[in-house]
Amino acid sequence: MNYNDRTFLVTGGSSGLGGATASMLVEKGAHVILLDINEQTGQKKETELGKNSRFIKTDVTNEADVMAAIALAKQEFNGLHGVINAAGIPIAEKVLDRDGMPHSLESFKRGIEVNLVGTFNVIRLAAQAMKDNEPTEDGERGVIVNTASAAAFDGQIGQASYAASKSGVVGMALPIARELARYGIRVCTIAPGLFETPMLATLSEEVRDSLGKQVPFPPRLGRPNEYASLACHIIENVVLNAEVIRLDGAIRMTAK
Ligand SMILES: NC(=O)c1ccc[n+]([C@@H]2O[C@H](COP(=O)([O-])OP(=O)(O)OC[C@H]3O[C@@H](n4cnc5c(N)ncnc54)[C@H](O)[C@@H]3O)[C@@H](O)[C@H]2O)c1
Repeated sequence: MNYNDRTFLVTGGSSGLGGATASMLVEKGAHVILLDINEQTGQKKETELGKNSRFIKTDVTNEADVMAAIALAKQEFNGLHGVINAAGIPIAEKVLDRDGMPHSLESFKRGIEVNLVGTFNVIRLAAQAMKDNEPTEDGERGVIVNTASAAAFDGQIGQASYAASKSGVVGMALPIARELARYGIRVCTIAPGLFETPMLATLSEEVRDSLGKQVPFPPRLGRPNEYASLACHIIENVVLNAEVIRLDGAIRMTAK
């Protein structure tokens, strides 16, 4: 598999799992467009990765933003060949708080909007851009890697919005992979367990250590480059399609 003449959109590409994947793709010779809402970390990442990357401030839920990112891939590099959808936000809120007040409907919707609708927005526009690519020997024209979560299967108390958004990402993978098969575009999903990223950095070191010890093996948090390795394997292995792969050291989350 030759990465040299390929360009990938990486959403959430300035941080955590997306950031590690963008780095690995560039190391392998690919071009990356970093799509992130955070301008500061995005520009820093572009500087770190050098001439084979471009950052563009993007809200994945916004059609014009994502179209501009795809236009940038065509203008600066040689089109678009793949997507890593790693942008996401955590929502932690109970249905009823300790005073009996209900979950904010706005924050519930926000989780769905960014994690599910944002992922779909990027998929639909990228599919349009990739469908006319020159096919590889295998007939492949593009590959899409989405990011769900172990919470799609074992959501904890307080994760109603997050788990619903991530199980939506899992649920839409098969119908989309079936439909895009006619264009030679694959769709796979990674469902990470607990990873050492800025998203988890909001928790204290003690809590992170204790979470890590709950993982059967290896008893620690996952490392972003372990996610990136799987994303690259999916890109390279043309037979993987419509699959959801848990990357979680066998953890099954408890209710709390
Ligand atoms: N870290 C974990 O343990 C873990 C576990 C399971 C799933 N995930 C999922 O992995 C993905 C990456 O998470 P991470 O841990 O690297 O987090 P992170 O916070 O380090 O990175 C997420 C990135 O997404 C960006 N982002 C947020 N909203 C956006 C929007 N509307 N448009 C564009 N960019 C936006 C953020 O600015 C950030 O740079 C997320 O979808 C997350 O839900 C993470």
